[in-house]
Amino acid sequence: MVIFGASGDLTARKLMPALYNLALNRYLPAGFSVIGVALTPWTEQEFKTHMSEAATKYSRTQPVDRSVWQSFAEGLHYVAMTFDDMDGYGKLAATLDRLDRERGTGGNRVFYFATLPQFFAVIVDRLGASGVARAGEGWKRIIVEKPFGHDLKSAQELNRAIHAVFTERQVYRIDHYLGKETVQNVMVFRFANGIFEPIWNRRYVDHMQITVAEDLGIERRGAYYEKAGALRDIFQNHLLQLLSIVAMEPPANFDAEVVRDEKVKVLRSIHPINVETDAVRGQYGPGWVAGEQVVGYRQEDQVAPDSKTETYVATRLFIDNWRWAETPFYLRTGKRLPNRASEIAIQFKKAPHLPFAKTAVQDTSPNLLVMRIQPHEGASLKIAAKIPGPVMRLRTVNMDFFYGSSFLIESPDAYERLVLDCMLGDPTLFAREDEVERAWTLVDGVEAGWAAQPPPALPNYAAGTWGPEAADALMERDGRRWRRP
Ligand code: BG6
Repeated sequence: MVIFGASGDLTARKLMPALYNLALNRYLPAGFSVIGVALTPWTEQEFKTHMSEAATKYSRTQPVDRSVWQSFAEGLHYVAMTFDDMDGYGKLAATLDRLDRERGTGGNRVFYFATLPQFFAVIVDRLGASGVARAGEGWKRIIVEKPFGHDLKSAQELNRAIHAVFTERQVYRIDHYLGKETVQNVMVFRFANGIFEPIWNRRYVDHMQITVAEDLGIERRGAYYEKAGALRDIFQNHLLQLLSIVAMEPPANFDAEVVRDEKVKVLRSIHPINVETDAVRGQYGPGWVAGEQVVGYRQEDQVAPDSKTETYVATRLFIDNWRWAETPFYLRTGKRLPNRASEIAIQFKKAPHLPFAKTAVQDTSPNLLVMRIQPHEGASLKIAAKIPGPVMRLRTVNMDFFYGSSFLIESPDAYERLVLDCMLGDPTLFAREDEVERAWTLVDGVEAGWAAQPPPALPNYAAGTWGPEAADALMERDGRRWRRP
């Protein structure tokens, strides 16, 4: 694996810990090697030291097993170069050849693009021009991090640049939400149980709410976030991926193209979003999160004092097909909300008739299925039950499934699964070209709508609250309410 951007945050926080845990669980082939590539003038030894520190700090399994690390670290190498420097690619090629000979890597390569996105195209181009993309035997694949473009046009340009060198089957566009156990479980839940699919449609579902809530602010990513905003950072990828998995038709099998065809069909069926009625943007001001006082978005580092960037977005979507026509899907994401919670909540229609005396019926709400992506991973189904006693009184109770108590093993990190899938040549859990482009088409529509409107007065929600009032109004107009997960 060649990691471009090897001295960066992602490599330290996610990739090295994931690779180490794959090594620990014996998923990596013998001779597996990493070449870190970055501008930082490290020696090979310095690279190894930094990577060892990263594994120690960020591995999900602790403490790090020194003997496993030692043998894994024998395969770590480093090439310092700028990403456009052809000589650098010569050095890289020589190192790759040497590893093929010395460690038996057989010409198989994963090129991991963990750099700032402005370097993606130049790296692809140089991999092609230097011949590194094709040299020798074995397969060649690339993993491209997000953001994949910042609108439809730039995503198409990047796709064109990539396809000048690699075929679509060699391209793995990462969306780490797809690697989460709980997201894969949505498909198992739907397609391995006989009882849910028959009611998974407009006749029985009242609406769905999909939430990616974060209590964190933007950390040290002000420069990136100013240009992205919540719509590009999370809605375009994670939220739309969750939507397509929960709304797609059952695939005939789990072949990558079959599954992705079904997901794309959902994206293609989403009605263009009318920003006047169906989209709300927000930005957090100062406030309190988890007992701590925090600054507003405009006071964060590298953020303009009059920034108009949204840190919150809520939308109402409709999917124009037979399964979902007229069923609203409410999607929201935000930074500095009261807590971290990602979930898919499916609200079923209420029972058509309650045969009990009016006085008997207390506190029942329609059935609700909540799939908790994180934290408290699992699922709950709310059902009405009789309160014990001589009279007929009802209440809503939960049927619960918790990963923690059902499976006494810890889930792997999303990156472990995804990196392994790439090495095995399985792109099912990666975004295909048309998926990414379709998602941008939707987002571009919202951006254009917003650009044509005066922005709301920002900030419009205090850190530590559930977003702007307009988002509540979006639901209340339909006689519904957001959940407080
Ligand atoms: C990333 C976004 O893609 O996902 C971040 O860029 C966000 O802004 C993160 O914090 C959330 O991921 P997770 O796995 O913590 O839910």
